Amino acid sequence: MSIYADNAATTKISKNALEVMNKTAENCYGNPSSVHSHGQMASSMLYKARTVIGTLVGASLPEEIVFTSGGSESNTQAIMTGAAYGEKYGKTKIISSSFEHHSVLNALESLKRRGFEIVFIDPDRNGIVQPQALEDAIDENTALVTIMTANNEIGTLQPISALAKIAHSKSALFHTDAVQAIGHVPFSAKEFNVDMMSASAHKFHGPKGVGILYVKAGLKATQVIYGGHQENNSRPGTENLPGIAAMAAALKDSVLSMQKNYEYISSLRKKLTEELLTIPNTLLNGDTDNRVPGIMNFVFEGIEGEALLLMLDSRDISVSSGSACTAGSLDPSHVLKSIGLPEDLTHGSIRISLSEDNTEEEVDIIAKAIKECVTKLRDMSETWQEIQSGIRKSEIE
Ligand SMILES: Cc1ncc(COP(=O)(O)O)c(C=O)c1O
Repeated sequence: MSIYADNAATTKISKNALEVMNKTAENCYGNPSSVHSHGQMASSMLYKARTVIGTLVGASLPEEIVFTSGGSESNTQAIMTGAAYGEKYGKTKIISSSFEHHSVLNALESLKRRGFEIVFIDPDRNGIVQPQALEDAIDENTALVTIMTANNEIGTLQPISALAKIAHSKSALFHTDAVQAIGHVPFSAKEFNVDMMSASAHKFHGPKGVGILYVKAGLKATQVIYGGHQENNSRPGTENLPGIAAMAAALKDSVLSMQKNYEYISSLRKKLTEELLTIPNTLLNGDTDNRVPGIMNFVFEGIEGEALLLMLDSRDISVSSGSACTAGSLDPSHVLKSIGLPEDLTHGSIRISLSEDNTEEEVDIIAKAIKECVTKLRDMSETWQEIQSGIRKSEIE
């Protein structure tokens, strides 16, 4: 049996989204900017998708939705919009968290080279950015605060409306990367009072290469691509209408079944967590409850996450490891480092991310496979032997 448990990396496109995408490509192929009837048909389809998506993410107006190529582009554009706001009002500081996605971290790195002061606040040991940490870091010179809604490696949820309120108290903009949250947990731009929000269709069973940037009315998104006047002069390029229509369908389905899926996926996660925590010297990273339903990250002391991932892959189980294998060296995950996990432990982590497509039977198979693989890997691990014989102290209290 082939098991896919890497839904935080990407989800399988739903049947409905695929059908909508194909039908739109076949029947609605005009360019939305063209004045003829084919173009107008495409334009009204685009407006319909914008309206549906706007309603589903709690926008006040359809025009607050900008269509992009995905989460990375939306994050980049939001951060450049924050920088432009800073330049306009003479503010030079940007605050973020140390466990953001690389699209945020690298965009901020580019602003540092432009002279911005970038301040990263650490989440607490449970993977939550505490409002007090933002209170301590923010001042009148802050142009933008950008903090993700759900972390992609450990799944923890952040107190977005409290953080946005603090940002606004110093007249800073607030952006959230909600790529791992949209379609999985309730989100309302209006209720949370965010200025910008990023989302990506392929994380909620939509197609890849299409995303959303919510930009609150009154704020103009800074262009990061040059070209024509599409997306209200915010994002040039002929719109990916089949992808956008499919994204709207996928988001509608996800929001309509959110409660049911949340309960179902949470029950699978709890079952798997319980099973895996029976393995000695094992940790669940991040808060037990304050998280999106499907993402889990475990540390198995004394083994390498990459080795476990490959062993599971040989059994046709797809998960992800917390380490990025670059140029032959295992770089510890910046997320696990940010929550204060000792470096030795960061190497032994894997991420399992479930969706409503997974079954209880699959969870049983995953648990059994991990138990067997961890035992095998520990039998070969010098570190583990040393911990067992008392030469080395366990890092897990
Ligand atoms: C939290 C987060 N932000 C941004 C992205 C980037 O999204 P995309 O793949 O659509 O560029 C991802 C994708 O893994 C993510 O998990």
